[in-house]
Amino acid sequence: MTHTNDTMLELFESVLRQMQTPEEPELLYAPIIYSMSGGGKRLRPVLLLLTVEAFGGDVDEAMCAAQAVEIFHNFTLLHDDIMDNAAMRRGKPSVFAKWGGNVAILSGDAMLITAYKLLAELNPAKLPRVMRIFNDMALEVCEGQQYDMDFEDKDSVSAEEYILMIERKTSALLSGSAMIGATIAGAAEEDVKKIYRFATELGLAFQLQDDMLDSYGDEALGKKIGGDILEGKKTFLMVQAMSRATDEERKVLCTTHTNSALSDAEKIATVKALYDKLDVRHATEQQIELRFERALALLDTLSVGSERTAHLREFARNLMGRKK
Ligand code: IPE
Ligand code: IPE
Ligand code: MG
Ligand code: MG
Ligand code: MG
Repeated sequence: MTHTNDTMLELFESVLRQMQTPEEPELLYAPIIYSMSGGGKRLRPVLLLLTVEAFGGDVDEAMCAAQAVEIFHNFTLLHDDIMDNAAMRRGKPSVFAKWGGNVAILSGDAMLITAYKLLAELNPAKLPRVMRIFNDMALEVCEGQQYDMDFEDKDSVSAEEYILMIERKTSALLSGSAMIGATIAGAAEEDVKKIYRFATELGLAFQLQDDMLDSYGDEALGKKIGGDILEGKKTFLMVQAMSRATDEERKVLCTTHTNSALSDAEKIATVKALYDKLDVRHATEQQIELRFERALALLDTLSVGSERTAHLREFARNLMGRKK
């Protein structure tokens, strides 16, 4: 019997609960426990484990890799919230807001090291290949994060540049997780490539949605609405708005976040009024739909039968309906 999304999530949560974290020094480890038990959706480890099963592998064997990707993900969030000056995460104060930047840096570093410790527990025969995927993925996330920050200071970013940026900062971790799962299960090279493309497209849809939720989501469920606007992020909404705006509107879009005459609420309202006027929500929804459809179509091309990929399809569907 293979796992459904729900039973896989349950299994992974039970493994995480057994994970031991030292108590001292408290300011190193308490933020790690706070982050790891803070209500994350566990998408990457669940994707990894569902992929293992889709290719007939053993989830127990892959569990250390699943833990590694989840702790790596949480590490990226600790550092991301410093870079994005974000006070809220998962409906609560971010580690950065609660303990400050120094704590978020060092606890994050310890999480990155813990991820490698977990990965090193893998079957030695499979470790080199998995390590290569993990390292490539980790570096891509760093590249994406740098582009994300570079773009804050660029007046014009094309939709293509934006997609390349999110392919690194967000898709890389999802596609890396899926490839690691496929590799541990001993999938054929062609299938590993296809599952990589599936998770890449899904990751793009996921980040596009994340951009949307940052402006139009429910604050109680996650982040402070308008954080991206205040930071001058070139989200898909912003990139689309810029490409549709008149010269005058473009100037407003470029300068509002640094306009000291406006309060934060006024800045957010100004930019969102232009988003509405330029109908960028619709354009973003279309792009999400396109990427999602591409992801699903790729699943059908795998060499394993469609009954084997049913849970991955369910995973993708659940992701599309997310509100946080
Ligand atoms: C947040 O990822 C970072 C992005 C790539 C948008 P998730 O939304 O998967 O974070 P949690 O772990 O479920 O909170
Ligand atoms: C997500 O970017 C990418 C990483 C965290 C590596 P965001 O900055 O959009 O993520 P959130 O919105 O803070 O979760
Ligand atoms: Mg960021
Ligand atoms: Mg962020
Ligand atoms: Mg975001």
